[in-house]
Amino acid sequence: MKVDVLLGLQWGDEGKGKVVDVLTPRYDVIARFQGGPNAGHTLEFNNQKHILHNIPSGIFREDTLNIITNGVVLDPIVFRREIEALEAMDMDPTENLWISKKAHLILPTHRILDAASEAAKGKSKIGSTLKGIGPTYMDKTGRNGLRVGDIDLRFRSKYEALKAKHRQLLKLYDFEYTLEEEEKFFEGIEVIRKFRRVDTEYELNRMLKENKSILAEGAQGTLLDIDFGSYPFVTSSNTICAGACTGMGLAPSSIGEVYGIFKAYCTRVGSGPFPTELTGEEGNMLRDIGKEFGSTTGRPRRCGWLDLVAMKYSIMLNGVTRLIMTKTDVLDSFDTIRVATAYSVNGELTDRVPYDLEAAVEPVYTDLPGWKTDLTGVRSKEQFPQQLTDYIQFLEKELEVSIAFVGVGPDREQIIESR
Ligand code: GDP
Ligand code: IMO
Ligand code: MG
Repeated sequence: MKVDVLLGLQWGDEGKGKVVDVLTPRYDVIARFQGGPNAGHTLEFNNQKHILHNIPSGIFREDTLNIITNGVVLDPIVFRREIEALEAMDMDPTENLWISKKAHLILPTHRILDAASEAAKGKSKIGSTLKGIGPTYMDKTGRNGLRVGDIDLRFRSKYEALKAKHRQLLKLYDFEYTLEEEEKFFEGIEVIRKFRRVDTEYELNRMLKENKSILAEGAQGTLLDIDFGSYPFVTSSNTICAGACTGMGLAPSSIGEVYGIFKAYCTRVGSGPFPTELTGEEGNMLRDIGKEFGSTTGRPRRCGWLDLVAMKYSIMLNGVTRLIMTKTDVLDSFDTIRVATAYSVNGELTDRVPYDLEAAVEPVYTDLPGWKTDLTGVRSKEQFPQQLTDYIQFLEKELEVSIAFVGVGPDREQIIESR
């Protein structure tokens, strides 16, 4: 068997949580391979909304094993909160959730460093979720980090040493802080102890040999990738498909389908360039209809038209084999739907994402007629209005990848397998 990967092609929040939940019955294992509680993955079923931050989105389906792999950075405080929310639903996640010993831990001082660093940046701040992601990955690559496996190995002294290092660093900033979350951190560590902590790379490779089906769940999106995103306005991990290999300990040859998920339009939360951003009435309409407020921070998301220049870049970087388009219903009332098909940079047309996205990048649009139909009750592709079928065909021709699923609402049921 191969591992299928599902990841975001835009700036995150494409609807990964919902679609992983929908696809979970087809898989034995769901594995989160990078990022941490900066992610907010929303699932809706039985008129209830659930938001996951650290935990893979397969957790609500029985008989599925969920794995937090080595590429993830795990916050014990957030993790505990998520576990308690599941327990309140009479679930016992200790049964079907494993954690990699090699996943790095987010300490309270990582979060403080994140906040201090952002505050010091002033107007040029990244717009981080302030969950401690950057400082934790910095400690990982700087070879200072604490890992889940350390909690059985003189943990307190390692913790104190790293905390002392962080406190030294914090002296560089004019930033007031308290360490009141420390107690909660250690309570969270006790919750982690209840879970199977394993070398998930061995387990995942074993499962592949045993023909188990595995879906790798990405967090954030390709345009937030540390190498290829709109640097420095990015997150601190490789969000692209290659990140699934390093994030899980799987060989590139073990990757099967790559599901690339995108919204029928585009959003971004936090700072950084966004060529197709709509700052006027249409942007507000997308935000209101699409309920575009961050799942993790509640911040309003910036909204704009679908950007095929960026999408082609993302498809190339990830080797996407199947596309998934979400939030199609949000465009139901638009007369005209615009899609950026090229950029004009200093008067020259290009279909490439330029190094400096903050320069004068003007999107060149193709306009398509809207379908002006309520899609939220549509359950088969035969019910698609002609304009939607045309829109899908236009995108497939431009992107050279077929659209396998179309989302028409937030609920588990509101998705159509179109191919
Ligand atoms: P993720 O981070 O990629 O999992 O996405 P988020 O959960 O942060 O944001 C996606 C939002 O869109 C959530 O509120 C979902 O419930 C919602 N959503 C997902 N798919 C659809 C869809 O097809 N239509 C609508 N209207 N909402 C959707
Ligand atoms: P999901 O998995 C959208 C953004 C932040 C900020 C930048 C860096 O739900 O799609 P960080 O906290 O990583 O230091 O923030 O990345 N960001 C996200 N935006 N969805 C996410 O995750 C995000 N995770 C981080 O807003 O601009
Ligand atoms: Mg999200």
